[in-house]
This record gives sequence, structure tokens and C-alpha cells, in this order.
Amino acid sequence: MKYDFDEITDRRNTGAMKWNVGEDELPMWVADMDFQTAPEIIEGLNQRVSHGIYGYTELNEQWYEAYRAWWQKRHGFEIQKEWLLFCTGVVPAISSIVRKMTTPAENVVAMTPVYNIFFNSILNNGRNVLENRLVLKEGNYEIDFEDLEKKLADPQTSMLLLCNPHNPVGKIWDRDTLERIGEICWKHHVLVLSDEIHCDLTAPGTEYIPFASVSEKCRKNSITCVAPTKAFNLAGLQTAAVIVPDENIRYKVNRGLNTDEVAEPNILAAIAPAAAFEKGEPWLDELREYLFENRRYAENFITDQIEGIRPVSADATYLLWLDCRGLLGNSSELCRFLRAYTGLILSDGREYRDGGGFLRMNLACPRARLEDGLKRLVSGVREYQRWIVERC
Ligand SMILES: Cc1ncc(COP(=O)(O)O)c(C=O)c1O
Repeated sequence: MKYDFDEITDRRNTGAMKWNVGEDELPMWVADMDFQTAPEIIEGLNQRVSHGIYGYTELNEQWYEAYRAWWQKRHGFEIQKEWLLFCTGVVPAISSIVRKMTTPAENVVAMTPVYNIFFNSILNNGRNVLENRLVLKEGNYEIDFEDLEKKLADPQTSMLLLCNPHNPVGKIWDRDTLERIGEICWKHHVLVLSDEIHCDLTAPGTEYIPFASVSEKCRKNSITCVAPTKAFNLAGLQTAAVIVPDENIRYKVNRGLNTDEVAEPNILAAIAPAAAFEKGEPWLDELREYLFENRRYAENFITDQIEGIRPVSADATYLLWLDCRGLLGNSSELCRFLRAYTGLILSDGREYRDGGGFLRMNLACPRARLEDGLKRLVSGVREYQRWIVERC
């Protein structure tokens, strides 16, 4: 390997949200990575910073071309320049689009368990969340299409918020599934907002399929949010793109992003995508190998050492979704117990509306840190099980 993902970089005292924790605590929650980004990207950003003038900034041609070329080369999807809009993040884009493209009290369908902030973007804007619960069958998540269609057919439903690949379960939706979703949404006049921020973090040898690339109906009836921030660990730069192939929808989305003042880049947000997509590819491919080695290591370790927790296998993201329903007790309490007893901080599945029984672990860290986290998990779970038995 050319890049050293084993290297430990201290993130304390850098303002990192994830690391704003106690001295002996180990955060494996917030979805960013404990790796420095690609040296080629750091160099590109350094050059801009050392210029020394940080005035108002516009996108340049390279920004559009970087997205276009990357999606064509990596994901086999032809994006046209005019389809692309800048936004200061995927979450600001989702909130703005919910506001602009739906009306208060309407329903937005989300497939749960799902990225918790989706609920904020819907509820904070006075819309309702309609949950289409994913079904876990023999370790694999599937969509309950009967339920989905019922919810999309509700006259008060105006949007489906899709997560592709899906956080937290790490699923890449296949072409047939996406096409079927596209057909049902078209039939019931429901707009699809597809969050594809995790799309470059697939297992080596696997590919994600952009929703808009699947059919004419999917293309015309969708808005897609993408960014280099998850894959290249640039989330703090606040940069994303919104892809809107349909001209009428695009006009409205563009108005919404501008009205909400989330349509203008800071100096680094303007150049980071080109730095990442043009120079970061070799780093990303090594990162994916490393992350999926981490995943294999964690899955084997947990399966061997902890009876009662089943890791859900996944082909995308660096998030490990742990099915803890075989343990005694309650997973929210376990999450609190792990932090208090071992210092390990995981995310409680309830945040994602999991129905109870799941935890999420962020695997994007050097192997030594992962080993530390797994040891804490084993000792914490054992102690929690003892404590539950004694309490009874
Ligand atoms: C599915 C999903 N969408 C969006 C985001 C955040 O996007 P941004 O930082 O661009 O607002 C995350 C972060 O974890 C995520 O998992």
C-alpha cells in the first residue's frame, strides 16, 4: 500500500465533534474518519490557503467538470453540466428541497432505519415522516414494497427520501429495486430525493447505481445529492452538489437553495471536489480495501467473541450495524452502559428508528484503534449481561 492508514493522528483539540469526549473515551459514532485525507488533496488545499486572500468565491469550470468526469468514469452516469447545483452540504440541501418541493403537513416517506438527520429535515419544516420499515431477512435488508406503495399512494405524500447506499445498514440498492421504486413514485406523482453521499465507499469490486441513471422516469422525477466529503473525509469543508436533470424541478430547487443562502461556496468548498476527484482516486481505492478489511476483522471478532450480537453484513459505507437483539437487556441502555463502563461511544439504533435492538459502530479508523474498540465492546457487553442477570 502506498498510503498508511495505520497511522494514528490525534484529533483532540482540533474542534472535531467526534472527539469532543472524555480523555479515556473512544468515539466510534459520528460518521467521519480518523484518517488524514489524501496527501494530494491536502497539497491542493494548502496551495489555495497559502495564497492568502480569502475573498468571496465562485465556482469555476473545474468544479463542474470534476463531478461530471467522476460520475462518468466511476459510476457510468452522464451528468450534464447544467444539471449541477452547488450546496453547502447534503443536509442543508435536503432541508431546503423539502421546504421548496413539498408543503407543510404533507408526508415524506423514509425507509427506516435511516440516517437520523432525515427526520430533522422533515419534521423541523412541519412535514410528516411516513416510515416504510425495511425488513431484515436472514441478515439482509429488503424493502416491503406493498407497504411502500401504500404510503406513496397516500394523497398527502409528495416526496420519497431515498438513501443509496443506505446509512446505517450499508446496503447498495440494486437496479431492479431502484427501477421499481422509480415506477411507483412516478405512478403516484411522488418526487424522489436520493441522498447518495456514501456512494464512493463501496466494497472493492462492487458498484453503486445512481438512482437517476436507471430509467427515464427515474431521471426526470429525481433530485440527487452527492459530495466528495464522506469518501475523502472532507465533511468540515461543507461542500456538496445537487443533481437535477429536469429543468422545471431544477429551477425551483435552485431558487430554494438561493433563498436559503446555502448556494455559495467558501474558498475551500469551491476547490475541494476537483482536488478530490482529480487527484484522490488511488488513495480512495486503497482506503476502500482498508475499510473492508476493518469490516471483516470486526465481523469475525464480534461473531467469535460475543454471543448475542450479529453484525449485519454490508457492501457499502464504513458503518457496522450490530443486531443486538440476542442479548439480554435493552440496546439503548447497553449503549449508555458501554460508554460509562468502557468509554466506548457507539450510536444508539433508536436514533435511526430501528424499532429497538441495534447499535451502529464507525469502523473508519486505524486498525489498532478498532482493536481497542472491539475489546471495549466485548468487556462492556459481558459486564452488561452480568449486571442484567444480577438485577433480575
Ligand atoms: C446519508 C447521509 N446524508 C448526509 C450526511 C451529511 O451530509 P453533509 O455533511 O454534506 O451535510 C450524512 C452524514 O453522516 C449521511 O450519512
